[in-house]
Amino acid sequence: MDELMEVDEGNRGVCVLNTKKVPILDNYQISNTVLGLGINGKVVECFNKNDNKKYALKVLRDSPKSRREVDLHCRGSTCQHVVAIVDVYENIYNNQKCLLVVMECMGGGELFQRIQDRADGAFTEREAACIMREICVAVQHLHLLNIAHRDLKPENLLYTSMDEVAKLKLTDFGFAKETFSKESLQTPCYTPYYVAPEVLGPEKYDKSCDIWSLGVIMYILLCGFPPFYSNHGHAISPGMKKRIRTGQYTFPNPEWSNVSTDAKELIKGMLRTDPEERFTIFDVMKNKWIVVSSCGCCSSSSSSSSSSSSSSSSSSSSSSSSSSSRN
Ligand SMILES: Nc1ncnc2c1ncn2[C@@H]1O[C@H](COP(=O)(O)OP(=O)(O)O)[C@@H](O)[C@H]1O
Ligand SMILES: [Mg+2]
Repeated sequence: MDELMEVDEGNRGVCVLNTKKVPILDNYQISNTVLGLGINGKVVECFNKNDNKKYALKVLRDSPKSRREVDLHCRGSTCQHVVAIVDVYENIYNNQKCLLVVMECMGGGELFQRIQDRADGAFTEREAACIMREICVAVQHLHLLNIAHRDLKPENLLYTSMDEVAKLKLTDFGFAKETFSKESLQTPCYTPYYVAPEVLGPEKYDKSCDIWSLGVIMYILLCGFPPFYSNHGHAISPGMKKRIRTGQYTFPNPEWSNVSTDAKELIKGMLRTDPEERFTIFDVMKNKWIVVSSCGCCSSSSSSSSSSSSSSSSSSSSSSSSSSSRN
C-alpha cells in the first residue's frame, strides 16, 4: 500500500510525500545502462514491466535531505520544463534504506554536452534566447511556488530527445530550498511581531542565487566560456572568488563584438552583485531580449502559473543600451 510520509522537518508546513513501499522490482526492471553521473552517484535506465517503456532511475539514500529533494522536485514537476517524477519507492536497496525516484527518461542528454559539442563554442542569439526562455519558464514556476533551485547549471538541464525540437527541462533538486514568502508570513496563524530579519531575508537571496546562475548560463551560451574563471586550471581560486564578489567580468572581443547590447544588458541585470538590485525572474521573463529574440517555438510552453506575482523589480528590464555603469 502507498503511504503518506512526513517530510521536511526544517521548513514551515508539513510536506507529504507519496512513496510506494512495494519492491520496485515488482514494477520495473533496472538496467545497467548509465544515463548520467552526478554527485549522488549514477542515474540508470529502467523499464516499466507493463509496457516496457523506458524511464530514468535515481537512487538516493533515505535521509531528511533526500526527502526534501524529492518533495520539492515533485512539487516543481507540475511545470512542463521540469523533469517529471513518475514514481517514488521507499525500499531497502543494496542493504540500505533508499528512495528510488523514477523519472521520465530524458533521451537528449545534458545542455552541458550541447555546449561542448559546439565547435565554435557559441549559440546564435536566437538559439540562446530560446534556451534561456525554456529555463526561465521553469525557474519562474519554481519561484512562484517559493522554491529556489540553487543549482542551476547545464549539467542539470536535460533534453527530452535528440530531435531539433526537443524540450529542455530542469532537474536535480538536491540543493533546492523552500523560501519564506511575504504571503506565507501574512497568514493569520503567523504573528510578525517577533520575526527576526534573517527570517524575512532568505526568500530574496535564495531566489536571486538562481538569477545569478541564469546570467552565467546566458553568458556561456553566447560566447562559449564562463564570465568568471580561475587562471591556473583550479576549480576556484582566490582571484576568481574576488572577481565574483566584486562582479568583475568583461565582454571580450572577438567573441562579443557581434552580440547585441540588449543581450549584454540582460546579462548585466542578472549579474549584479547586490541581490537587492539583481533582476527577478519576472524582470527576466519580460525583458525584450527574451521576448523578441526567442523564436516562438519555446514561447508557447509557459507554465500554468501567471507571472503577475509580487516581483519587486528594482529596475526596468528593458533598459536602454548604455544605462548600466557596471561591466
Ligand atoms: N530523467 C533523466 N533522464 C536522463 N538522464 C538523467 C535524468 N536525470 C538525471 N540524468 C543524468 O544523470 C545526471 C545526474 O543526475 P542528477 O539528478 O543531476 O544527480 P546529482 O544530484 O547526483 O547531480 C544528470 O546530470 C544527467 O546527465
Ligand atoms: Mg546534478
